[in-house]
Amino acid sequence: MAVERTFSIIKPDATARNLTGAVNALIEKAGLRIVAQKRVRMTRDQAETFYAVHRERPFFGELVEFMISGPVVVQVLEGEGAVAKYREVMGATDPAKAADGTIRKVHARSMGENSVHGSDATDTAAVEIAQFFSANEIVG
Ligand code: RTP
Ligand code: MG
Repeated sequence: MAVERTFSIIKPDATARNLTGAVNALIEKAGLRIVAQKRVRMTRDQAETFYAVHRERPFFGELVEFMISGPVVVQVLEGEGAVAKYREVMGATDPAKAADGTIRKVHARSMGENSVHGSDATDTAAVEIAQFFSANEIVG
């Protein structure tokens, strides 16, 4: 399998509970390498652009408000099959349906406040990474 990069966000519910290190421990335990990371406050524009694919969904407004409600940690993760591997490490969108030991099962509070984001494909990962990082900020 090819070495890939995926984009991750540690969401405001997790940063509020001081869980950045706990989430990173699960990421690293799965063999993914954190090759870029910064703590930022997303602007409304950034959040709306980032989740533009969900613009027509009923939860879009709530999702944007949540993502700008506190600091987030944006990351680039690298490893063999990183996109699918991180989706596995995160667990299902709804924490009640997430597998044991996954980030969302262990830490998420609800479907909305579900602690982490991970890209769903390599092409969307590239777009998402470019939204938050320049090439010289990613050190593999
Ligand atoms: P993400 O994009 O954040 O990694 O999550 P995902 O792929 O597992 O889920 P997605 O369908 O892309 O939804 C994006 C985020 O929107 C919120 N959501 N709320 N209330 C709801 O029914 C609902 N559905 C989705 C979640 O925060 C989800 O992660
Ligand atoms: Mg998604």
